[in-house]
Amino acid sequence: MTDAESRIHDLAHLGHHCLRTPDPDRTVGYFVDLLGMDVVARQGDATYLRTFGDYERWSLKVVASHEAGLEYASWRTRSPEALDRRVAWLESHGYGGAWTEEFAIGPCYSFQDPDGHPFRLYYETERYVPTGADTPALPTSPQAYAGRGANVRRLDHVNLLARDVRRCREFWEDGFGLRTYEVVLGPDGVAEAGAWMSGSIQGHELIYTQERSTGSGRLHHLAYCVDSREEVLRAATIFADAGVRIEAGPSQHTAIQGFYLYTREPGGNRVEIANGGYLVFAPDHETFVWDADRWETKPGWGARIPPEFHTYGTPDIT
Ligand SMILES: [Fe+2]
Repeated sequence: MTDAESRIHDLAHLGHHCLRTPDPDRTVGYFVDLLGMDVVARQGDATYLRTFGDYERWSLKVVASHEAGLEYASWRTRSPEALDRRVAWLESHGYGGAWTEEFAIGPCYSFQDPDGHPFRLYYETERYVPTGADTPALPTSPQAYAGRGANVRRLDHVNLLARDVRRCREFWEDGFGLRTYEVVLGPDGVAEAGAWMSGSIQGHELIYTQERSTGSGRLHHLAYCVDSREEVLRAATIFADAGVRIEAGPSQHTAIQGFYLYTREPGGNRVEIANGGYLVFAPDHETFVWDADRWETKPGWGARIPPEFHTYGTPDIT
């Protein structure tokens, strides 16, 4: 990344996101009953949901589809001018898309990353206005504390599968100024097996890991954060009693050091309950690069991950 590119601060944070599911009723039930989210609106076959920590009116849209997967992820920009600047960059670098509309959101620019994942950029958004029992004691909270299910506070990060991790990483670094906090190299020492990126001090907002199939544009997982490690453990018990299979965790990741728990929602999309991970305050922080041998030693907790964790994504093409 050049010095000019590293000074791009046009992305504020990960924004609303949309999941496709072949089983929308049970998928919405998973997010409401087990994760503790609320339904904000329904329009046709789409359901809009929010976490208790969302300042925007909604953050997750669930749509019926013949298969699971990511309909799109988005970033909110810092200003209307920042939105225009990033759209201009996309259009001048061969990634031009189209303007589109969305419920309770202003104009959205839709485009694809180099692996074909759909993204949107937007600035205008409606803020959530709590009423009745939703009204918090503290006016600085968007709504009253949920205290239900896993009690997720907000979207933490999105993990996508990519055939060319390096190309996707460079796309976000060069075009959007994301910082890359960790990279894992493949056995040849050149190709990248994973990249952990962020537009903020949070260790990861956007992650790319190696696509090991012939697929493209696939989702590995969405992660929602809770306030403590204890809540991750509590979520594991809630999932177990609900008959939801735990794929991995609870444990601590090597990269970024987040505490994790993975299940799949009934439509098949993988969802993580996450807590922690380090923050990066240093302006001159250098990307930590793991070579394949050192990565394989899994320093830290070294918890075993099942093989399908590295191959399963949505849509499922096995
Ligand atoms: Fe994750």
